[in-house]
Amino acid sequence: MADSSLTVLTPRLLLRPFEETDAPLIRAISFDPETTRYLFFWGRDGMTPEEDARRFLAYALDAWRRDPVVAREYCVCLRDTGEAIGDASVEAVDADTAEIGWILLPGRRGRGYATEAGRAVMELGFRLFGAKRVIAHCDERNAASRRVMERLGMRLLSVTPGARPAKRPGEMPGSECTYIRDKNTLGEAVLSD
Ligand SMILES: CC(C)(COP(=O)(O)OP(=O)(O)OC[C@H]1O[C@@H](n2cnc3c(N)ncnc32)[C@H](O)[C@@H]1OP(=O)(O)O)[C@@H](O)C(=O)NCCC(=O)NCCS
Repeated sequence: MADSSLTVLTPRLLLRPFEETDAPLIRAISFDPETTRYLFFWGRDGMTPEEDARRFLAYALDAWRRDPVVAREYCVCLRDTGEAIGDASVEAVDADTAEIGWILLPGRRGRGYATEAGRAVMELGFRLFGAKRVIAHCDERNAASRRVMERLGMRLLSVTPGARPAKRPGEMPGSECTYIRDKNTLGEAVLSD
């Protein structure tokens, strides 16, 4: 049973700390080249999917042990069944800035879950880390993730050519989009609407 002080509830989702038993979810992400296609830290530097999965789980578990907290990787679960469907993260970049991110299993996309989880980690960035701004990065070609950022009310801040790793033989490095949302653009209920 997840510790309720460490979990986040949204209308349809429960975000909880990762556990060792989440290895199958992480392996499902890691072993799917389509899912890792635009993920910065996955499928690169000669690491195998197995090594990537182990590295991610070790990082996620370690982040939850740190005090003060600098990063949180949440296992995204469906509230009604408890099924683990992905990852949502929030990380302090500096005193005023938090970075957020998301990954969903292919079979759980197209239902607004990433936007719902993204809204939750954005709120944590502002409330838990006291950030003045929340940012998110993605490969310029990652249209699905860009749409999530736009749905979260983020605006495109910059495009950096060549900042994303090439994942396929003969491929050129991709451009990196950075999106931002300033705290002072939040309305009263913007994070819960
Ligand atoms: C990026 C990623 C998480 C986006 O997932 P997604 O399912 O497209 O995003 P959402 O969960 O917000 O779903 C949005 C879709 O659900 C629909 N939707 C939104 N709210 C909904 C609701 N309440 N009920 C049903 N459907 C809804 C939207 O119409 C939208 O579909 P559309 O864009 O085709 O119109 C997913 O593509 C992914 O995991 N990719 C691989 C990992 C990755 O690249 N992560 C990002 C790294 S920067």
